[in-house]
Amino acid sequence: MIIPIQGVFSLEDVGKIRSHLDSSADWQNGNATAGDQARQVKQNQQLPLDSKLAQQLGDIILNTLSQHPTFISAALPLRIFPPMFNRYRTGETYGLHVDNAIRYVPGNSTPIRTDLSATMFLCDPEEYEGGELVIEDNFGSQRIKLNAGDLVLYPSTSLHTVTPVSQGTRTCAVFWLQSMVRSNQQRETLFDLDQSVQALTTELGASHAEVVRLSGTYHNLIRQWADT
Ligand code: NI
Repeated sequence: MIIPIQGVFSLEDVGKIRSHLDSSADWQNGNATAGDQARQVKQNQQLPLDSKLAQQLGDIILNTLSQHPTFISAALPLRIFPPMFNRYRTGETYGLHVDNAIRYVPGNSTPIRTDLSATMFLCDPEEYEGGELVIEDNFGSQRIKLNAGDLVLYPSTSLHTVTPVSQGTRTCAVFWLQSMVRSNQQRETLFDLDQSVQALTTELGASHAEVVRLSGTYHNLIRQWADT
């Protein structure tokens, strides 16, 4: 399931992040972090992982998401690989690839299994032509181009590509996470159930007997399926 989450950041907050990125001279060739297959199809620029700016801006993104109920419910995150900042200028693209299954944060020996991939859009669709994130899922290819401040989450098992930018510059942050629930199907079931519980809570109140029962079912499924 591809899950867009709109308005994680306001335009004002995205503007602050962008002003730092746009004035940074630290952009390097994006091949530095790509696996063997991906390296052959990846043409973009990114900030080095050990860049202080990338770490500071990445912390802002993860702190905001850690308080975002829809993100938490959809991802059930256990470990998160810090956001990487990239940009695609005119002519740049990232051909069809699948993300590496295991990632290590530099200086940390704990592996992160990539269950979910995330792209945070830091530019408006009007700023560039092309540059669509195309994800192959069970229902065919989905073309994603969101507003600045929006996030999309998708299973890291999906083949995906960023189509060539034909005009302008596309600036995004991408990251991966290991979920407490490894199975995409189980995680999606939990997300659907939680969305329904939230909607029923609004409609009927948190103390309604059936809301309490459904909420209990949600937590009991988490107990069965989650690894911590
Ligand atoms: Ni990728």
